[in-house]
Amino acid sequence: MNQHARGPLLPPDRGPLSAAVAAYLRGTGPLPRPADAEAADPYGDDLQLALYLCYELHYRGFAGVPPDTEWDPGLLRVRAALERRFRSALRADTPVHDSLDEAIAALLVEPAEGTGVTHFLCAEGELWQLREYAAVRSLYHLKEADPHAWVLPRLWGRAKAAMAAVEYDEFGGGRPERVHARLFADLMTDLGLDTAYGRHLDAAPAEMLAVVNLMSLFGLHRELRGALVGHFAEVEITSSPGSRRLAEAMRRTGAGPAAEFFYDEHVEADAVHEQVVRHEVIGGLLAEEPELAPDIAFGIDATEYLEERLARRLLADWRAGRSCLRAPLEAPLRTPAQQPAPPAREASHTS
Ligand SMILES: [Fe+2]
Ligand SMILES: [Fe+2]
Repeated sequence: MNQHARGPLLPPDRGPLSAAVAAYLRGTGPLPRPADAEAADPYGDDLQLALYLCYELHYRGFAGVPPDTEWDPGLLRVRAALERRFRSALRADTPVHDSLDEAIAALLVEPAEGTGVTHFLCAEGELWQLREYAAVRSLYHLKEADPHAWVLPRLWGRAKAAMAAVEYDEFGGGRPERVHARLFADLMTDLGLDTAYGRHLDAAPAEMLAVVNLMSLFGLHRELRGALVGHFAEVEITSSPGSRRLAEAMRRTGAGPAAEFFYDEHVEADAVHEQVVRHEVIGGLLAEEPELAPDIAFGIDATEYLEERLARRLLADWRAGRSCLRAPLEAPLRTPAQQPAPPAREASHTS
C-alpha cells in the first residue's frame, strides 16, 4: 500500500482533548466529553489539533484508522462541540466589515508596515525562515484547493461554473505534474523538506492549524457555503501580490527553480482567479442568493483575522531570532545556499 492510501501517522497530542481523540482513533480509549470541548481555549493547540484530527478523516485519514471512522456518530458529536467553540469565538472576535464591498476593499489595502509575513520574507527572510514557512504552509498547500471542492455541489449556475473553472486550474488543468499541491511538493524538495503528506503537522503552531481548520469548517457545512466562497475570495485576491514577494524571496536566497516557479505561477494564475472569483463566483452566488452577502463578508474577515494571528506569531518568533516551529525540521536533504541553522526555540513555545 502506498503512503497516500495509508495516510500519515497520527501526530503526538497537545493536551487532553487531542489525546482522547487520537486514542479513540487508535481504538484504545473513549472520546472526550463534548463539555470538555466547550470549555477549551478555542484557538489553543489542544482544541485545534483535536479538530484537525477530526477533519483530516475527510481528506486522507491516518495510518491504521479505518476509513469509515469518518462517519462515526460519537466522533461527529465531539467534532460538532469543537466546531461550536471555534465558531462562537470567531463570531465574537472577528472584526467584521459593515458590507461585503468594504470587506473586499480592505483586502486590496497593503498591511500596516512590518505586519506582513511575505513583506518580511521578501525583504530580509533567510533560507531557514523560508523552509519553516514552507513547512507550516504545507498543511494547506499539500491539499491545495481540496477544501474548496466541497462547495461545488452547493452552488449552481454562474457561481458553480466559475468555481469549477478556478478549481480546474488548481488541480492542474488535466496535467498531474501541474497540480498546485504537486508544485508545492516540488518547492519543498528544492528547500530540502520532506514532502510526505502530514509530515509537518506536529511542527506547525496552533495558529496554522486554525487557518486550515477554518477552510475545512466552511467546506464541510452547506450552511457556510457563503463563508467558504468568501474564504476563497480572500485567498485569491491576496495571493498574487504575496506570491510576487515570495517568488522574489526564493530568487534572492537561491532556493531553487521549483521554489520560484510555485510562486511565479501564482502571480499569473491568481491575478486571473481574483477576477473570476470576484465577478463570477461571488457575483453569481449573490444573483441567486443575495441574503448570503453577510456570510461571504464573514468568510473574508474571519480568514483575515486568522491569517493575521498567524503572521503575528511567525514574525514575533523570527524577529526574536528563534524558530516558529514546535519541532525542529529534518536536516536539509540538499543545501542550495549556505544557510545558518535556526536558533533553538525557547521552552515556553514548545508546549
Ligand atoms: Fe493554487
Ligand atoms: Fe488560485
